[in-house]
Amino acid sequence: MSSRGAMTLLACESGRPFAERVVESLNNIVTQSVYKEQFTLKDTNEIWFPNGEIKTVINENLRGDDVYIIQLLDDPKSKKTINDNYFALFTAINAAYQSDADSITAVIPQFAYSRQERKKTREGITAKQIAMFLESSGADRVITLDLHSEAIQGFFNRAKMEDLHASRTLINFIKKEKLFTNPIVVTGPDVGSAERARFYSKKLSTEFAVVDKVRDYSKISEIESMRLVGDVDGKDVLIVDDMISTGGTLVNAAKLLKEKGAQKIVALCALPFFNGPAVERLQKAYDEKLFSAIVGTDAVFHGEGFIEKNSWYREVSVAPLFAQVIYNINRKRSVSELLR
Ligand code: R5P
Repeated sequence: MSSRGAMTLLACESGRPFAERVVESLNNIVTQSVYKEQFTLKDTNEIWFPNGEIKTVINENLRGDDVYIIQLLDDPKSKKTINDNYFALFTAINAAYQSDADSITAVIPQFAYSRQERKKTREGITAKQIAMFLESSGADRVITLDLHSEAIQGFFNRAKMEDLHASRTLINFIKKEKLFTNPIVVTGPDVGSAERARFYSKKLSTEFAVVDKVRDYSKISEIESMRLVGDVDGKDVLIVDDMISTGGTLVNAAKLLKEKGAQKIVALCALPFFNGPAVERLQKAYDEKLFSAIVGTDAVFHGEGFIEKNSWYREVSVAPLFAQVIYNINRKRSVSELLR
C-alpha cells in the first residue's frame, strides 16, 4: 500500500509525556498490522539560552520523512509559558524543515490563543497569527483537539487542519463509569458551548439545557451573570465544555444549576488546563458538593501524582485517538470516521 515518507515522531519538551503515550499507542496499532516496525521518538535537544532564546536541534536524519512534532502549549507542571512553548514548537518545525523533511505536521492538542479568534474592539485576531506563524515555520498540517472555534480551520492559507474530538472517548467513559443516578440533563456553561452540549445530549439521549453566561471582557476571566434556559430540577447534570481554565465558568454554572434544583453534577472537558486559582477553587467547590467529578483528557499533563492528589479529577486518554489519526494520515487512509 502506498504511504508517505517514513513516519517520524518528535517531541518538544513540554509535549514529551503525551508524545510517549502516542508512541505507545502507535506501537499497539502496528503490532496488529502487517507492518511490524516499532516507533520511538527521534533524539532532539531543546536548548534554552540565558537570554530566553530557544533552539531545537534534531540529532537524527529525517530527510524525506513524514514528520509529526508533538507539543503541549500549556504545561502546568513547568515554569514555561504558552509563548515559550509556541516558540519551542516553531523552532522544532523549522529544524525539521531545514533537515529536509518531506512533510511536517504539528500535533498540538491545545491550540493556544484559540479564544482570540475574532475582534470586538481594537485588538488583534491572534489565533490567525498563530496559524501564520505555524505555516511560515514550515508546517504542512496541524492536528488539534476540540478547537474552540471551528472557523480557525480557515485561518491557514496552505496548511491543512484536522480537528479531533474527545467526545467519543469521554462519552464511552461516562457510559462505562455510571456516574449518575437520576435522569440526566446535558448543558454547556455558556451559549458558545450550546452546540457541543446538544451533540453530547443527542449521543447520550438526554434532555438539554443552556446556561447563558455574560462576561465582562474588560476584566480577565470575570463573569457578570448567568441564567438558565431549561429545567434541571431533581435531575443530574452533565456540563460539557471545551476547556476549564480558571474554573470560574464551571463553578458559577454549577452554583446556578444547584440553585435550580440539580442533583449530581459532573463536568466534562477535552482541555482541563486548571490555570491560576483553578485547583483550589475546584477543590473548594467539590468540598461544598457543587459537583461530584470533573472528567478531562491527558491532552493537558499535570505531572505525576496529580490524579491521586485530586480525587475530584478523572482522566481519560486521547493518545490512542491521536495515534490512530497519525497512522491513518501516514498510510493515506481516511480519518473522517475517527473525527465523529
Ligand atoms: C469559553 O468560551 C470557554 O469555552 C470556557 O468556558 C472558558 O474559557 C473557561 O474559562 P474559565 O475556566 O477561566 O472560566
